[in-house]
Amino acid sequence: MTRTQVVIVGAGPAGLLLGQLLHKEGIDTLILERRSAEYVGGRIRAGVLEQGTVDVLEHAGVASRLRSEGLVHDGVEIGFRGRRHRIDLKALTGKAVTVYGQTEVTHDLMNARAASGAPSVYEAEDVALHGLDGSSARVTYTHRGVAHEVSCDFVAGCDGFHGVSRRSIPASLLKIFERVYPFGWLGLLADVRPPWNELIYASSDRGFALASMRSPTRVRCYVQCSLDDRVENWSDEQFWDEFRRRIGEEFASQVPTVPSLEKSIAPLRSFVAEPMRYGRLFLAGDAAHIVPPTGAKGLNLAVSDVLYLYEALRGHYRERSASSLDDYSPRCLRRIWRAERFSWWMTSQLHSQPEDAFGLRMQQTELEYLFDSHAAQISMAENYVGLPF
Ligand code: FAD
Ligand code: PHB
Repeated sequence: MTRTQVVIVGAGPAGLLLGQLLHKEGIDTLILERRSAEYVGGRIRAGVLEQGTVDVLEHAGVASRLRSEGLVHDGVEIGFRGRRHRIDLKALTGKAVTVYGQTEVTHDLMNARAASGAPSVYEAEDVALHGLDGSSARVTYTHRGVAHEVSCDFVAGCDGFHGVSRRSIPASLLKIFERVYPFGWLGLLADVRPPWNELIYASSDRGFALASMRSPTRVRCYVQCSLDDRVENWSDEQFWDEFRRRIGEEFASQVPTVPSLEKSIAPLRSFVAEPMRYGRLFLAGDAAHIVPPTGAKGLNLAVSDVLYLYEALRGHYRERSASSLDDYSPRCLRRIWRAERFSWWMTSQLHSQPEDAFGLRMQQTELEYLFDSHAAQISMAENYVGLPF
């Protein structure tokens, strides 16, 4: 049996970032990831980083490419049935957001992990957690047919929504809050110069669309789709035709039909599991909570959890603090619930819900109020750029 201080389950952005921060602090970690490194590095997900996230990546020493390649956006646009309004994030809050793909964040973190020499095991099967409520924990797993066992002080459950960590907490001790939305997002990635300078969140009578980007030569676009839809049902032509119908006249004529590099469907869900600690196990990121992507908060929340967990572990190991580990879950949940509220609000205001005439009037009134009220714009902007870490 080997030993380490912290076993990190999952090599998504949460697990990799925690590994990097703890490594810099001289705290030993082992990362166990179910998938291959190629698979983890190839996943297309989020694209918008809050300033707080950029600051944590700077602190972790993984921001040099982000600094040179990230696109700083001072505003976002909201479209509603033909009308479009720019929310001037910079003027309203003094802050901006940075467009830099989760894929790139993951690559930067994987490179830093490899350079640090700290151990990671990809394709670790049957990860199981033991002794979480005792005086020391153990993690077992299988790699290339060989069984392994590691003893540790703590386990960081960074293994996403479908991981093993949350399921290792007795169900009677967890309180689950959940809302599943009756629609999903079909996303498409393509190499073409974005005709828009800033992101556009557009609500149309055919459903929601988002115009985003990854670089000056790559776009990422989404359309609201039904929950039972399949990627195979959508040719690239069909996607672009639908996107053009929803995004508004100005851009419809400027969006060419270009072949996709990737297309995928994501369901939309709000989910929180409380508390985020069980004995020696700490949950972080999607393992503990999910937001619908409309507020661009999922990745940013994973980063604030990880910052708090890093600070809690540093407090425990370096300052011998008795309370730092106890503060972790309540500290995270305060920020998480605010991001849950904002993501739910953005999702509810911008997506079509057929046969809900009252709901449609509420959306219309809410967005007109947003367009006309400086106070409403400040509130939206301060949430979009990210509440303080
Ligand atoms: P993950 O990135 O899910 O990483 C968890 C890791 O744990 C994975 O690598 C997984 O393979 C591994 N793992 C799982 N089970 C085990 C196990 N038993 N043993 C070992 N390892 C395991 N957010 C946005 O803001 N905008 C978006 O557009 C957006 N799109 C998304 C699309 C999809 C399909 C998904 C799933 C999420 C999307 N998100 C988006 C959310 C955002 O990507 C997540 O919030 C972010 O990835 C959370 O990071 P994480 O490290 O907590 O979890
Ligand atoms: C993305 O670029 O993938 C993206 C941007 C903003 C969102 C969600 C996804 O709210």
